[in-house]
Amino acid sequence: KYSPIIAIDGYSSTGKSSYAKMLAKKFGWKHIDTGAMYRAVTLYGIQFFWEDQNINISKLELHLNDIHINFKFNPNFYSNDTYLNGANVENEIRNMKVSEWVSSIAERSAIRKFLVEQQRKIGENGGIVMDGRDIGTVVFPNADLKFFITASVEERAKRRFLELHKKDKSLTIEKVTKNLQKRDYIDENRKDSPLIMASDAFLIDNTYLTQEETYKKMEQIVIKRF
Ligand code: C5P
Repeated sequence: KYSPIIAIDGYSSTGKSSYAKMLAKKFGWKHIDTGAMYRAVTLYGIQFFWEDQNINISKLELHLNDIHINFKFNPNFYSNDTYLNGANVENEIRNMKVSEWVSSIAERSAIRKFLVEQQRKIGENGGIVMDGRDIGTVVFPNADLKFFITASVEERAKRRFLELHKKDKSLTIEKVTKNLQKRDYIDENRKDSPLIMASDAFLIDNTYLTQEETYKKMEQIVIKRF
């Protein structure tokens, strides 16, 4: 099958998006990072519905149709930049404030429904690697191949810290660890589409693997399958 749907789910900061991107590049498929879509909705909430140090999520939910998310291919990095209502928000959606709020946004059913519908449309013709939390369980339960990626929280925090510290010197490893643990907890325990491994997914724990080793493992599985 030359236009498969490949689902990559798993915990934050396991490198899901990087692997999705590497596989897409190797096999000539598209790559969609669904976390970026939840992050874009969160950024919109912060921009327009910020009240008393909170996002007024009920209000935000009444305005979902004002939110237009697009991806534009950026050949420099062989990846997609995320656009929110026409503006490139690729950098902004990765900041700590968005990370602190995104799981509270992603637990709301109305918001999931709004984004899952778009994700299904983007992926329906196949030839795509989609990464997220619920791709193999909810968005495409019949995906042709599923991966579930995990690693210890210490290792994931270290990786995320090294990445974010370049831009924000005030960031501490404790803050990053707390954010990961909080997001894991909300993602695993929400009622709608909790983070869980699909029974037919390949489980990969990359705590002790390099990025290259993890990627090679996945590539082998893809080659065997198609
Ligand atoms: O992948 P990333 O860490 O950028 O995702 C940010 C957040 O978006 C996750 O912590 C989760 O709350 C939410 N998410 C989700 N379902 C997806 C992708 C992301 O709930 N398919």
